Amino acid sequence: MAFDEYRLANRDNWDDRVPIHYGSDDYGIQKFIDNPEHISDVVQFDLDNDELGDVSGKTLLHLQCHIGTDTLSWARQGAEVTGVDFSEPAIEACRKLSTDSATPGEFVVAEFYDSPHVLENRQFDVVYTGVGAICWLPDINAWAKIVADFLKPGGTFYILEGHPMMWSVSQDDHGEQVVLDWPYFESAGPLAEENEGTYAGEGTLEHTREYNFTHGLGETINALIQAGLVLDVVHEHKSLHWQAFPMLVQADNGLWKMPEGKEDFLPLMHSIKAHKPE
Ligand SMILES: C[S@@+](CC[C@H](N)C(=O)[O-])C[C@H]1O[C@@H](n2cnc3c(N)ncnc32)[C@H](O)[C@@H]1O
Repeated sequence: MAFDEYRLANRDNWDDRVPIHYGSDDYGIQKFIDNPEHISDVVQFDLDNDELGDVSGKTLLHLQCHIGTDTLSWARQGAEVTGVDFSEPAIEACRKLSTDSATPGEFVVAEFYDSPHVLENRQFDVVYTGVGAICWLPDINAWAKIVADFLKPGGTFYILEGHPMMWSVSQDDHGEQVVLDWPYFESAGPLAEENEGTYAGEGTLEHTREYNFTHGLGETINALIQAGLVLDVVHEHKSLHWQAFPMLVQADNGLWKMPEGKEDFLPLMHSIKAHKPE
């Protein structure tokens, strides 16, 4: 599939982020290598919520797997994992981490919308994605169709993702006022941003331009329903893994929350579990 200018720019941008993230404390690569029981904060959050259920012995496809810390965490929970991402350096990093941490996994380079072709329409027991994944994809209906096609009949889809309401909040400091700077609903074109740094680690990106796409929660849910999946859980969370805007405060467990007294004002992440009928 031909990349449009947005995905070409995004791929260059993500390629640049890989070495910075791999060396950062936030992704905890050395902890992953040193301790065979270490799992990523994101997968720990999923386990604490106990929504996805036991993955051991199941085939699990991780869409937009980045440098593999979440993918290999599911492998450490007993899943037979396959990770897919459009960044070649990211997939190389996944393979290195898999070897260095002695945690088996299959990793494949593919642009999201091209992944059914690259994976030759394989099907999996579990399809997993999230935490900064769908904001890079322009078409949520086509996304949901691909997710559904990758599932075996009876298989489970699970996503933990930044809440679209959270993405729409201004990243400037407005004290404890919630100010909206970005659209909530899926809009016609992407949102362009220039950033020299990234959210984890120190370092400067050569390719600073990125294009994001918004998707409202209802749009995502309806896309999954239209694709034939049956919803099991829709959960809006009051914490997330990074300081998305200045007002958020860090809790004892390391997660970021709205300030005291405003915990119930705004959802910060959401999770959706769905299954494909037999
Ligand atoms: C924030 S990561 C999400 C994974 C996980 N939450 C993590 O932090 O490890 C976003 C990933 O999406 C990938 N990505 C962005 N656009 C993509 C596309 N069109 N096709 C495939 N992968 C894409 C990037 O390369 C990046 O690895």
